[in-house]
Amino acid sequence: MNTAPVKGWVYQPVPGFESHLVQELTELGGAPQSYGSLYLSETPPVISARASHGVPRTMVFWHQNCWLEPFRAEFASVSEAASILRDIQRNWASALSAHYRRGALITEKLPPVSTKRRPFPWRAPESPMGAWTLLDTHTLLASPRCTSPFPNGTIEFEEDKIHPPSRAYLKLWEAFALIGSMPRKNERCLDAGASPGGWTWALATLGAAVTAVDRAPLDGTLLALPTVTFLKHDVFTVKPEDIGRIDWLCCDVICYPPRLYEWIEKWLASGLCANFVCTIKMQGAPDFETTRRFAALPESRVLHLYHNKHELTWLYTSSNRANVMPNT
Ligand SMILES: C[S@@+](CC[C@H](N)C(=O)[O-])C[C@H]1O[C@@H](n2cnc3c(N)ncnc32)[C@H](O)[C@@H]1O
Repeated sequence: MNTAPVKGWVYQPVPGFESHLVQELTELGGAPQSYGSLYLSETPPVISARASHGVPRTMVFWHQNCWLEPFRAEFASVSEAASILRDIQRNWASALSAHYRRGALITEKLPPVSTKRRPFPWRAPESPMGAWTLLDTHTLLASPRCTSPFPNGTIEFEEDKIHPPSRAYLKLWEAFALIGSMPRKNERCLDAGASPGGWTWALATLGAAVTAVDRAPLDGTLLALPTVTFLKHDVFTVKPEDIGRIDWLCCDVICYPPRLYEWIEKWLASGLCANFVCTIKMQGAPDFETTRRFAALPESRVLHLYHNKHELTWLYTSSNRANVMPNT
């Protein structure tokens, strides 16, 4: 067996947003090298040793997974390839973009990695999830450690196709699964940009008391819930002191990122909210500058969730918050 560490980091881009990843890697440290659908770069995803809840903060945002300890290994047979990976750890997700038949034979010899839909609440497992691909029929490119705990950064939930008025709630579920925490019964949540109400539905289902704000109407079934209060209002004119102390601020407003940042700064300065989940929606070209400002806020991180589209998610959780998600 002939294995060798690979210098740099391997990025799996967000499908459809490859150019965003190439742009940010190029700006930060030079053009990445492409390997099929993957990119090898000398720019690390982590720019600060500070970690939030053990999760490194990142500065390269537009990827669904980053391989942190890549290595190459030459192998003579499918069995040898599988044993190279198995001897390191149990969990490996394949990220093939060629040599599919040979890759499938290797996968058959590895312990199965479940990609089944997860019920919510569900917390990401703590055991490491590796990733691998084939550079040619006799060379593996693999990494036992990756930024995402999900196979190739992907997570699917068992959906409720009846009750929520939009599918946007899947973003919130994914954010809670990643941070290992979610609103508890009777905690106060502000849902900014709530219409038609997928996030409000998700929060109310957890037993939280939700104040939903939007200029557009909220779904009628949610309005009827005693735990939901709706304010038809421009959210940016709502001041923290108008709302008072809350446990979670969840924001999915469509707006230019600097507008959101300005509003969030007021909330942080007020000290009235402990936990935040906010989507940063790109209007046309990605706004790297504001994204970096969000990522630089203490105790927080910005990432592209599997359920995000042309947007990123800023997560900020109070460090003394106990995890309340069930483990798998
Ligand atoms: C992507 S949708 C939110 C979807 C919602 N999270 C859900 O789960 O159904 C964005 C919302 O932001 C609202 N919005 C945009 N600008 C706003 C503003 N200044 N004040 C209040 N709401 C605003 C829009 O009316 C729209 O309903």
